[in-house]
Parts: sequence; structure tokens; C-alpha cells
Amino acid sequence: MLFKQQVLLRQKLFVLGSLAIGSLLYLVARVGSLDRLQPLCPIDSRFGPRGQDEIPLRALQFKRGLLHEFRKGNATKEQVRLHNLVQQLPKAIIIGVRKGGTRALLEMLNLHPAVVKASQEIHFFDNDENYAKGIEWYRKKMPFSYPHQITIEKSPAYFITEEVPERIYKMNSSIKLLIIVREPTTRAISDYTQVLEGKERKNKTYYKFEKLAIDPNTCEVNTKYKAVRTSIYTKHLERWLKYFPIEQFHIVDGDRLITEPLPELQLVEKFLNLPPRISQYNLYFNATRGFYCLRFNIVFNKCLAGSKGRIHPEVDTSVINKLRKFFHPFNQKFYQITGRTFNWP
Ligand code: A3P
Repeated sequence: MLFKQQVLLRQKLFVLGSLAIGSLLYLVARVGSLDRLQPLCPIDSRFGPRGQDEIPLRALQFKRGLLHEFRKGNATKEQVRLHNLVQQLPKAIIIGVRKGGTRALLEMLNLHPAVVKASQEIHFFDNDENYAKGIEWYRKKMPFSYPHQITIEKSPAYFITEEVPERIYKMNSSIKLLIIVREPTTRAISDYTQVLEGKERKNKTYYKFEKLAIDPNTCEVNTKYKAVRTSIYTKHLERWLKYFPIEQFHIVDGDRLITEPLPELQLVEKFLNLPPRISQYNLYFNATRGFYCLRFNIVFNKCLAGSKGRIHPEVDTSVINKLRKFFHPFNQKFYQITGRTFNWP
């Protein structure tokens, strides 16, 4: 009898305990999401008709819930209609530069309640086969969003591909263009490291960076090497400037995004005419990763994949110096054109 009562008591305590823990977890999650539910300032009219330019609060609530599900393709037509969801062409594109920190920038901007990212690189404008499928194909690749949110996609190959500026211009001549750059020699080595890792994964051997970056016949910098060419930022930018005025570009400091992301993100918010919503709370330094990671709320946070932040191979100092000397005049021109100066050697 006594044993039965003890069992019953234990069961009751277990149920009560579970309820208490459940409620606590719920409250904790709510506090986290409340952080993202502050009242919003109006967004610039360019992103929505006047009078309706406040993002509905439900947009924020659904950012990691319903919208996420819809992106995975689980939405019925009825749900899409009910929630007034649309697939919008991007209002801003991160056009490059490869290994500049394009993924980190996209993911960090996605912390903003008014931004919805296209998760995959779509390669619409740089890939002839995709481009031939037409603009509707491109739009259908975009995530679902509320009409007052803005969609952002990133495909770093756009920056260096000849045909892309004209193609983007034809879609939207007033689009906002984001370019994230790093010190050119470091970027080139990062680019090399990515290719090297791909080769190693396939058990293939590859040349040393020094061999690719320096022409063995002339002992000068090998400008035919793609990783070097991509880092001549001014050459590529000049092609873009035939279609878009400089005011339509914003240059992000990729080196600073690594060490001090918030001020860089605040500059982008300003450029996109978004109310400042990304805060230090959304970014925390993860000592194990050696990078900042993202915090959406108290329950949901994430770091970038391990393929971001690789260890670079050691490169001969004389080669590094030669490359830095080579990039120097191009960098000066880049500062001049963009009005943004970096402490690159
Ligand atoms: P490395 O792998 O050379 O360190 P991209 O996304 O354009 O390919 O750029 C990758 C680079 O983003 C990485 O280059 C890394 O340094 C940088 N990066 C910037 N912020 C980061 C972050 N919070 N987490 C991981 N990588 C980040």
C-alpha cells in the first residue's frame, strides 16, 4: 500500500516537474524572440508603399518558423495566400568578392527582421544556361517573404563575370550592390586554399601557391592566375561602373567583418535604408571557432560551416611581398573610386 502511494507521489512529482521545466523553457524562448519583436521604425519608401511601410510583427515571429518551413517547400498555396507571402526579386545582391566573407555577410544580414536571404548561390546572371531560363525562373528560386521585407542573394562569381553587370542592369537598374573585400593577397591565398582543399578531398595533388602566383619565366606576378586576377578589385569594378553609378555600391570591409562585425553591418543597414535592428546581442564570439557566430534568440544560434575560416598554408614571405607590391597601385585606385580606404600594405 505504502509502496503504491510512493509510486503515485513520484509520478505526480514527475508530471509537475515536467510541466515546470516545459513552462520555463517556453518563457525563455519567448524572451529570446521578444528581443526581435521590438517596435520597428518605418523602412524607406523604396522598399514598400508609403503608409504600409512597417513590417508586420508577425513577420518577425515567423522569421524562423513559418517562413523557414515555406522555404523548404512545405507551404500549400492556401497558406501562402493566407499569409500574404511572395517570392520577390532581390532588392540587393552581394556580388562578391569570392572568399571576401560573402557567406558571413549574407547570414549576418539575415539577422535583420526585414531581410530574407536566398540560402543557395543561384548563379543566374553568370551561368548562361540558368540565364536562358528567364527571370521568372530566377524569381521562383527566391525564398518566400512578406511584401515589405527585402530579399538578398549572393553569388560571388557575379563580380568577375563579364556579362553580369549588363544582365543585372536589365533586371533592375536601381538595385543595390554589395561588395565585400579583404586584403587582396590574403584573399588570393584563401581562394587558393579552397581549391587546394577540393583537390585533396579527391586525393589529387596540387601546385604550391608560390608556383601558381609567380610566373617561373619572368619571376613576376602571374596575372593569368585566377586567384590573383580576382583580387585586382578595381579592374572588375570599372566594368560594373559602365552600368551603375558608384552610389549604388556599398563596400564592406571583410577583414573588419571578421574581427568587429557589428559596425560593418550597421553601415550596410544604413546603405539599405533599413532601421538599425542588428545588435551586439545577435553576434557572439566563439573562441573554439575563432569567429563571431549568430544568435537569433536565446534558443537559436549558429556558427558558419567549417569550410569558412580554413587554416591557410604558409606562403613564402618574398612572394607575399611581391604580391602586395603588385596590388598596391590597384588598391590605391580602388580607394579613390569607392571613397573607402583600407590599411592594406
Ligand atoms: P578563410 O576561410 O580564408 O578564413 P566566403 O564566404 O566569401 O567564401 O568567405 C569566406 C571567408 O569568410 C573565410 O575565409 C573567413 O575568414 C571569412 N569570415 C568572415 N566572418 C566569418 C565568420 N563569422 N565565420 C566564419 N568565417 C568568416
